[in-house]
Amino acid sequence: MNSGHSELASLGDFQPADVWQVHVNHIFYGTKGPGIHQHFQTYVSRDHRLAYALADHFFKHCETLPTEVPLLVQEWGVGNGNLAARMLDRLKEIDTEGRVYPRLSYTLCDYSQEILNGVEANPDLQAHAGRYATALIDARDPEGAEPGSLTWVLSNEIWDDLATRVLIKSQGMLFEEYLQPLIEPAVIQGDFDTFVRQFQNADLDVLKTHPPFLDQIVWERAFQRTDVGDWPFGDVVNKHMESIDDDIPTPVNVGAFGTLEKAHRLLHPQHSAGYTGFDYGMLSTAHLNRVGRPYFKLYGGQYTSMVNFPLLAEVGQAAGFSQIELEPQHAYVGRSLEEPLISLLELVQNHPKVGEMAPWDVDVLMLETLQALNTHYRSPYTSKMDYPTLPGTPKKQRKLIAQLVKNLSTRGVPDTVAYVTESEVRAVEKPLRKLGYREKDIQRSFSLNDAPIQFCRLTLR
Ligand SMILES: C[S@@+](CC[C@H](N)C(=O)[O-])C[C@H]1O[C@@H](n2cnc3c(N)ncnc32)[C@H](O)[C@@H]1O
Repeated sequence: MNSGHSELASLGDFQPADVWQVHVNHIFYGTKGPGIHQHFQTYVSRDHRLAYALADHFFKHCETLPTEVPLLVQEWGVGNGNLAARMLDRLKEIDTEGRVYPRLSYTLCDYSQEILNGVEANPDLQAHAGRYATALIDARDPEGAEPGSLTWVLSNEIWDDLATRVLIKSQGMLFEEYLQPLIEPAVIQGDFDTFVRQFQNADLDVLKTHPPFLDQIVWERAFQRTDVGDWPFGDVVNKHMESIDDDIPTPVNVGAFGTLEKAHRLLHPQHSAGYTGFDYGMLSTAHLNRVGRPYFKLYGGQYTSMVNFPLLAEVGQAAGFSQIELEPQHAYVGRSLEEPLISLLELVQNHPKVGEMAPWDVDVLMLETLQALNTHYRSPYTSKMDYPTLPGTPKKQRKLIAQLVKNLSTRGVPDTVAYVTESEVRAVEKPLRKLGYREKDIQRSFSLNDAPIQFCRLTLR
């Protein structure tokens, strides 16, 4: 196939999308470790609010269990370990009679030793010595605990990383997406053929020494006729595709299917709180059928896929779960705080001028919005935000950004995607107005989000 980029060279053959996706993500996590959070923040990598909501939920569940039941929790795909640290903080705080926290055994599981090295160095976790352990476990590995032993399984933003095949329906036939990685040879130092071998073998120790290259990969796409009969949960997938309109690329998160089967096997049949996973993707069939909605995303070289939540729910049922809850993540956290909330970024995105601003001016607006919120918001934790300037930021804005960052309160909103409640935003309406936010912008930020891609919670029991 003609790539249309004559200067690009191939790093391998066309393969079903999931094959290359899994391969590059393995290289991404295996070479970057906790440095991944320089590429993106997640809802749990700095903020505490989702973790607190989960802890409150789990605490209520544990109170219904006989006191002799061991409380074994596993988190799959742990990043910097902040979710575990904040959940354990909260459980310790609310468990005033010592009925839950002292019985807890929380295992942070990840398939990257680099990531686990970062977790082990996380001082916030060390405060919970004795209550947690780390384990080098691949979420795709069917083992990892005694069957029927776990009280709870958790994951945040792992399904989008796992193997995802992509289907398109056209006139009653199904077609699967194939990918081919291409790169400009000049990006690579040293002999190109040797590099291709290192890339194909995922030789992490050598690849770590190369200047960043994953974000330079160009993905060529093609579709081939397929039959899903022999795919995992092929019958469920076939039936699901009946609800999908023609020519809509539909992610089939087969790696996530594996985690559901695994969770079902490892969770305690009576006492468990189930498997709760958070991720971003399509919440309903209507969202799946939105023309032009994205189905994959590239972050600094990491290849992620949107999660097809309706299909995961259907597969969960076929895997044996009988209770399934699916909702926007904001609704889950908002319920726990008993008021509507949004991420700070969503507020900024609703500023009337944001569409016409240069990216560095959006950075300035973000920091000024943070500063306004920080006059009221008080985090239970101290933190200092890193805010690297974008390449190309002019000197004037660079200086302003450095000054604004320096002045940020250490007890302020911890992150650009951190949750802020409606009352916290309303409390600083005046300074927000000065920054140009109008009443209708604030209202719109909190109104029902019907975007085709949303952060969602799926709990299966
Ligand atoms: C996007 S990060 C999310 C990290 C963390 N949960 C958060 O939300 O901040 C994905 C994490 O999952 C891990 N991961 C990816 N694939 C995995 C697999 N097959 N088994 C176990 N961990 C995996 C990565 O190493 C990384 O720590």
